[in-house]
This record gives sequence, structure tokens and C-alpha cells, in this order.
Amino acid sequence: MSVAELLAEHGSPLWLADVDRARDRLAAFRAAWSAAWAGGDGVEVAYSYKTNRTTAFLRAFADDDAGAEVVCAAEYALARDVVGVDGARITVNGPAKPDALLERCAADRALVIADSVAELERLTVAGVTRAGLRVGLPGPEGHPSRFGIAPADVVGAARRARDLGLTLEVLSLHLVSTDCTAALGGEHAGTLAANVRVGWAKAPTVHAQAATTLARLAAEIGVATIDLGGGFPAAPAVAGHGAAVADVLHREAFSGRLMLEPGRALVADAVDLACSVVAVKTLADGTTCAVVDAGTDLLPGALWAWPRLEALAPRMGGTGSAPTLVAGPLCLNIDVVAPAAELGELAPGDVLMAREVGAYQQVQSTQFGDLRPAVVAREGGTWRLHRRREELSDLIISDREEPSWSA
Ligand SMILES: Cc1ncc(COP(=O)(O)O)c(C=O)c1O
Repeated sequence: MSVAELLAEHGSPLWLADVDRARDRLAAFRAAWSAAWAGGDGVEVAYSYKTNRTTAFLRAFADDDAGAEVVCAAEYALARDVVGVDGARITVNGPAKPDALLERCAADRALVIADSVAELERLTVAGVTRAGLRVGLPGPEGHPSRFGIAPADVVGAARRARDLGLTLEVLSLHLVSTDCTAALGGEHAGTLAANVRVGWAKAPTVHAQAATTLARLAAEIGVATIDLGGGFPAAPAVAGHGAAVADVLHREAFSGRLMLEPGRALVADAVDLACSVVAVKTLADGTTCAVVDAGTDLLPGALWAWPRLEALAPRMGGTGSAPTLVAGPLCLNIDVVAPAAELGELAPGDVLMAREVGAYQQVQSTQFGDLRPAVVAREGGTWRLHRRREELSDLIISDREEPSWSA
């Protein structure tokens, strides 16, 4: 089915989730790391749920034997109750884990990565047995990480974990891919948006350096598995990261198990958003402005990194016109999807594709603005409806007052 046919059937805008491609990405990612780490004690891949929670992806990854890396109770329930992932294949991260989540982890024998020394006691009270420690490596420009335990405190944390009776299985880290380049809160920090940089993917040397730190700490505290988190590019590019990491791990005489938690690498280029041009006008300074029916409500990442836009079979032939300011439907001045896109001359009804928006967009999209679009998924080469377009009833379904409207 063509995009035009899918839009005619399911409306605009429309999410297109290519599950076949995501499956290929998982297989190639795992193959690249297994080849790189052939000398060690195996590789385990856990998909990072927060990146995109479309259940068609979650089920496909589980079918293809990926574990789940989750950061909240809802993601845990998705993995366990909806997708049916074995508790022992779930890794629970995050800086704020509710007690009820820890209790479920204990019952299911899920692996819980402690974010602080204080959290270790909460793990014990909840009955968690399988634990890991997240090591908070300094962020860009050497700013201390807000996540995990400072490297200098890891040995003490390991001692405390064992004193509390926890089985310490894993040392973990994640190199953040969205960098906040200014120190938060300082007088000159400016606004958050002005300081956000998406630094994905990091060079193999950066991951290799982090792996070295982790391997040394793992040797010191006697832990046989290290978890390098996410932040990797998709295969085949990730082969360079695998080789660089394996090289330093061999040098550090680490021969244990490697865990990886890819998000973007599996889904970033597996999702496009199709949207439609609603109006084209010339602004007072001569700028051509195309108004489309999808904005920063659906693509919040546009607030710090412009998505790649393409015009699909434009009516005017795709030539002519100066760069176009593409604005969304929200009636907010910041609702801009591209400040100066080279899209040729556009006309109302033209379809624009926001390409490779599978990571951290759909999950962070909001109900601000219009009802949210349908999701179609391609599986086995065929597109089908995965999630219907939102209806008014979805907006008020949780309200406790009697609805006074009739559908
Ligand atoms: C702990 C952890 N693991 C894995 C990931 C996935 O990262 P990426 O999408 O860059 O692969 C994240 C993302 O924030 C994370 O916080």
C-alpha cells in the first residue's frame, strides 16, 4: 500500500512503524556484538522501552529473544503483563522506582539497577535479590552525572549491597545521548532548550573509554557482567563500537558477559510520520510558510533537533520556491517543525514525511492539540492498522464525571 492510500484510509497525520525493519535492526545489532565479543561470555540485548513503546515493536523484539530495559512501573507492566517477557529478562533502571515496582521485581526475579546507595536499602526491604549498580560517569564537559553512583563511591556501594544480602550481578552505565551542555541552574545557564544538544551516536572511543572504567570497577568488586546501556548507532556502523569495546575489554582481562540496552539503534529509522500541508502563505518578510497538520505535539524532539522532512510527490513538481518555514497546527509560536526546509514549491494537500522519527518522539507526544493519529505497522511486508486514531472519548475516558456528550 502506498502512503497516499494509507492516509486515505487512516487519516492525516499518520505514524508508519516498520516492524520488519526494526527486527532487521535487532538481528544485525546482535550479530555485530556477538561477533565482536565472541571471546567473552556472551551478549545479551535488552530493548530500551522508553525509546518507543509501540507494542508491535515490543512484541516483535520479545519474539526475537530480546530482553526489556524499563524505567517505570508502566513500562514494567507492558513488558510483563502485555508482552509476556519473563521477569528474569527484565532490567529495571531509573532514578525513581516506586516501592510497588520493586516488590514486583522481587516476585519476578527481575534485575534491578540501583541508582544510589540509599536505594539499595529499599531494594532489600522490597525483597529484591538480583541487583546491579549504575555507575554515573561524568557527562559532556565533565559535568557530574545525575544518574547512578559516582565512580569513586562504587566500591563502597558494592560492599553495602553485599552487607544487605543483595546478589550483585551487574555493573551498568549509559552514556546519555541528549546532552545538556550547560550546568543546570547556574546564573549563566540560560534556558534548557538553548543548551540541549543531541549527541547521538557517540564515537567508538567514547564507549571504549567508558567500558574500560566499568571493567576495572567490575574486577575490583568481583562482578562478571557489565551493561553498557544504549547510545549506540544501528548496525553496520555499530560494528566499530563493538570492536573498540572488545579491544579494551580484552586488554583489561575482562572475559564476562556483556549486556546492551539499545533504543535508537533499533527504532530510530523504523518510524516515519506522514502529515499534510494545510496552507501555504507568504509572511511579511517574504518567507514562504507551509502550515502542516503535525507539529511539536507529535514531534517534540523538533524543539532541539530538526527532523528530516521530505515532500512526497508534490503537486507542483518539487521544484522552485525558496526554503520553506514549516509550522505546525498548535497556534503556538514555537510550533515549528523546520525553519528553512528545501522542499520545493508546496501546495495544500501535499504530503510531507518526517523521516526517522522512531526514537523519543511518539512516546513523548502529547494530547495538546488535536486527537492523536493512528499508527500503521508493516509486518511481513504488509501494512495494517496497529492503533486507531484517537477519538473524543479517549480524551475523557478517565474523567469521573458523567460525560454530557453523545457520540
Ligand atoms: C539506562 C538507559 N539505557 C538505554 C537507553 C537507550 O539509549 P539509546 O536510545 O541512545 O540507545 C537509555 C536512554 O535514555 C537509558 O537511559
